[in-house]
Amino acid sequence: MSATIEVLLTEPIARIDPNVYGHFAEHLGTCIYGGFCPGDGSGVGLTGGLREDVVAVLRRVAPPNLRWPGGCFADDYHWQDGIGPAGERPRRINIHWGEVVETNAFGTHEFIELCRALGAEPYICGNVGSGTPRELRDWVEYCNWPGGTGWSDLRAAHGAPAPFGVRYWGVGNESWGCGGHFSPEEYAAEYRRFATYLRDFGGAELSLIACGPNGNDLDWTRRFFTALREGWGRTRIHGYGAHYYTGNRDAGAGTATDYTDDQWYQLLLKAQGMEALVVQQRALMDAFDPERRIGLIVDEWGAWHPPTPGRPPRFLWQQNTLRDALVAALTLDGFNRHADKVVGANIAQTVNVLQALILTEGDRLLTTPTYHVYDLYRPHQGARAVRALFAAPEVAFTHDGAERRLFGLAGSASTRGDTLTLTVVNPRIGEPIEATIHLRGDATAREVTETVLTHPDIRAHNTFDAPDAVTLSAPRPLAVAGRSFTHQFAPQSVTRLEVALG
Ligand code: AHR
Repeated sequence: MSATIEVLLTEPIARIDPNVYGHFAEHLGTCIYGGFCPGDGSGVGLTGGLREDVVAVLRRVAPPNLRWPGGCFADDYHWQDGIGPAGERPRRINIHWGEVVETNAFGTHEFIELCRALGAEPYICGNVGSGTPRELRDWVEYCNWPGGTGWSDLRAAHGAPAPFGVRYWGVGNESWGCGGHFSPEEYAAEYRRFATYLRDFGGAELSLIACGPNGNDLDWTRRFFTALREGWGRTRIHGYGAHYYTGNRDAGAGTATDYTDDQWYQLLLKAQGMEALVVQQRALMDAFDPERRIGLIVDEWGAWHPPTPGRPPRFLWQQNTLRDALVAALTLDGFNRHADKVVGANIAQTVNVLQALILTEGDRLLTTPTYHVYDLYRPHQGARAVRALFAAPEVAFTHDGAERRLFGLAGSASTRGDTLTLTVVNPRIGEPIEATIHLRGDATAREVTETVLTHPDIRAHNTFDAPDAVTLSAPRPLAVAGRSFTHQFAPQSVTRLEVALG
């Protein structure tokens, strides 16, 4: 089996916005309580501070931003419940996620503390569905005005005299669904009304992010922008956030840890759908916004498997295998390849929920195969994406009695100074693939270092007893150099080649 990869060093695409490597934390299951904070593991309670182990591990992958408090939770969240002395905060029902009691022990100040500990920019999603423009405008003032107003003085009284300077604000979440079941026209009217009152208080230049489609729903996008265009000059909008889950229910791809070879390929094929979303949504947005002032964001994405037996179904806890790692890698490669079209993305969700990077149990923690992909792909953040062409025989497999085809090799390339980072996914089970890599442009490879994520078992995952079953290989210098060289990509793998250019 052979293939070619041409890296067109003189064909830059755009800078890869580090925000494409963003994260998401919702009050859902044990993401916040038990995940980011010590808790009793039931989704309730906060026994103080942040989990330093979780923060330390996540910091290693340089999270650029963290989206909070939801998700669906955001449109039933009233921020004033989450400020002031923890013991005095009201308890509410988390209506979307298992009707557990939300203590509000983790609120705005705790979120900002978490972002600072992580070195991540806060991205707050505001409540449109059950909230008011006034409530959201007041939250911005509370966070960003320096002092001398009721809200900013209250923030100072709660221990934070300096403004938080929160720039990223979502105006509702999934407004077509749990965020209010609006039509695109209704949401456009709501959006305009809310955005009118969200100002750059205190000089923090806001980036207002509108709710985009469910998957690649072009009708939502067309109707939303058509309705919004009527008040174009009066509407502040900087981002547009689509959601795309590689859902197993419709994909028919087994469970988180139990799947056949065909189901392995089927899930990867479903994940590949992200590329069509990015290309087609951006093309449609271009008709309304040809100068690309409004950035396309995918502020929720990831693999969503059927409920895990023995876990509360509304906690969305799931294991994470090598297959999920390939979903992450091919999605991030797609974002890199379309660095001119996508300016942000948030995997759902960072800890203990859906396609998590980290799982916790009591005091214990493990990093998932998906975490290792983020680690592997770190050099792409902020680098200059360059075009790379992959040619490899497709993989044929069967789904629902019909033959389907998946790419044979895929990936992305970026440069920073005189280093090229080439990441490559080989989806083939049990079959290595040898590729000739051609560097096109005025450069040659001086040194090449390979790091790989793979495992002989396609269902391999990390457990608390075997936390490093799936982990990165030690970086290995390769005995290759020049304008062209060959490399064998391991079966069912994600590989990073770091190439020193001369
Ligand atoms: O990430 C879990 C949920 O998925 C979010 O709350 C919602 O926005 C989406 O439907």
